[in-house]
Parts: sequence; C-alpha cells; structure tokens
Amino acid sequence: SDKKIAIAIDGPAAAGKSTVAKKTASALSYLYIDTGAMYRSLTYMALNNQIDLDNEDELCNLLNQSTIELQQGEDGQKVFWNNQEITAAIRTKRVTNSVSYVAKHPNVRKQMVKRQKDLAAKRGVVMDGRDIGTHVIPDAEVKIFLIASVEERALRRQKENLEYGIRSNLEQLKQEIEQRDKLDSEREAAPLVKADDAIELDTTSLSINEVVTIILNIVEQAKGE
Ligand code: CDP
Ligand code: CDP
Repeated sequence: SDKKIAIAIDGPAAAGKSTVAKKTASALSYLYIDTGAMYRSLTYMALNNQIDLDNEDELCNLLNQSTIELQQGEDGQKVFWNNQEITAAIRTKRVTNSVSYVAKHPNVRKQMVKRQKDLAAKRGVVMDGRDIGTHVIPDAEVKIFLIASVEERALRRQKENLEYGIRSNLEQLKQEIEQRDKLDSEREAAPLVKADDAIELDTTSLSINEVVTIILNIVEQAKGE
C-alpha cells in the first residue's frame, strides 16, 4: 500500500541500526534520520570548544546557537554544524567514547528530541537511536529493537574499522561498547530501553539483508492495518 508510516529503530551500540535503517529507508524511498549523529555533533563541537562535558548549561547554549543538518547523498550521509561539514570528525574514537556523557543531560535531550520530532512530523521516515520508540516517535507505526551479542557487535566494529584502514583491539572494542551501553541504559533521562510495543530482533547470526527483509515484512503488515 502507499500509506506512509514512521519506523523507529533502537538498540545498543553496533547492533546494525544505522546500516539497516538506511537500507530500509532506501527500499521504501523514505527519509533516514540518524539521531546518534546529532549527539555526536554536539560532542565534537563541545570537545573542540573545550566545554566541560558535565556543564549542561554550556552544552545547551552551544546547541541553542547552532544548526545541525543531516544531508542524504549517494555516497552516504553528510553532517553539517552551522554549515560546516563535520561528517568524518564525529566518528573518531574520542567522540565515540565521550558522547554518552553529553547525551545523559536532560536539557540537551529535550532540545534534541524537539528537533527530531520536527524532522519526523512528516511520515515516510526511518529514524534510529536509543529513545526513538519510547520518546521521539512514541506513536511510530513500526518499532524495532535490534540486539546482537557483544562479541558479535565488537567483531562488526572491528571489521568496519578495518575497512577504513584502522586496526583495533577486539577486547578493547568490546569494553568500549559495554561501557557505552551501560551509560546509555543506566542514565535517568530517556535511557536505552525497549519500548513495550517494539519488536525485538536478535541479529547475532543474521546478515544485513536478512534483517532488512524481516523489517520490510513487518512494515508491509503494519501498512495493511
Ligand atoms: O552507531 P553507534 O551505535 O555507535 O552510536 P550512535 O547511534 O551514533 O549514538 C552515539 C551515542 O549517542 C549513543 O551511545 C548515545 O549515548 C547517544 N544517543 C542517544 O542518547 N539517543 C539517541 N537517540 C541516539 C544516540
Ligand atoms: O548503528 P549501529 O551502531 O547500531 O550499527 P551499524 O554502524 O549500522 O553497524 C555496525 C557494523 O555491523 C556495520 O559495519 C554493518 O555493516 C555490520 N552489520 C553486520 O555485519 N550484520 C548485520 N546484521 C548488521 C550490521
């Protein structure tokens, strides 16, 4: 059917959310929105401006004065902060290991969620993150919670890093992923948690295409309802 819906994809680090969300959006000709990139952007700019990541007011001021733009292109998503491109800069290890300390602040989240709700107001959207099904689009027609074993997730990240020419230690990657999951799950404000009405998919032994096919079937079913 032609009915346009909202699809929320949440889950822990490196479960395959962005890869699967992007492919699902492309199959449906929907807009893909990577909310993690927004938290990463603020983290990168805060680190650059020597802002203390515990200082919620300063983080909020910085965010208040700034635009974050996600541009979808043929060669992937580009990220702009006040029109300055920071696509690669937000993926460094330093940003990755700091972002959960920025994302835990309730007033930072409030601003981010407002922007994300505006982006999702039009249906025909796939959004991935940690709190999409619980807070950003609680009325999403389809909610997916992607999981995979931490060993598998660390292996996926290691392989991904290698594609960019970066060798990484598997045990260290595993620890970094576990630390981030712990911070994201235990924070007070909109913690990482499966929405009651989300469908949990364990992708440990599934390929990307298998996961996308399962989600597209769920979407077809939801559209028919
Ligand atoms: O892709 P990966 O799983 O490594 O992370 P991401 O989706 O880019 O998100 C980076 C971090 O941003 C997460 O670890 C969370 O701390 C935060 N985040 C969040 O709190 N809420 C969201 N909706 C998305 C990301
Ligand atoms: O966004 P998130 O951090 O949840 O994960 P991602 O960046 O989309 O995926 C991490 C890596 O796992 C990517 O290199 C994907 O190609 C890979 N992946 C996989 O090997 N098998 C899957 N079923 C899903 C993702």
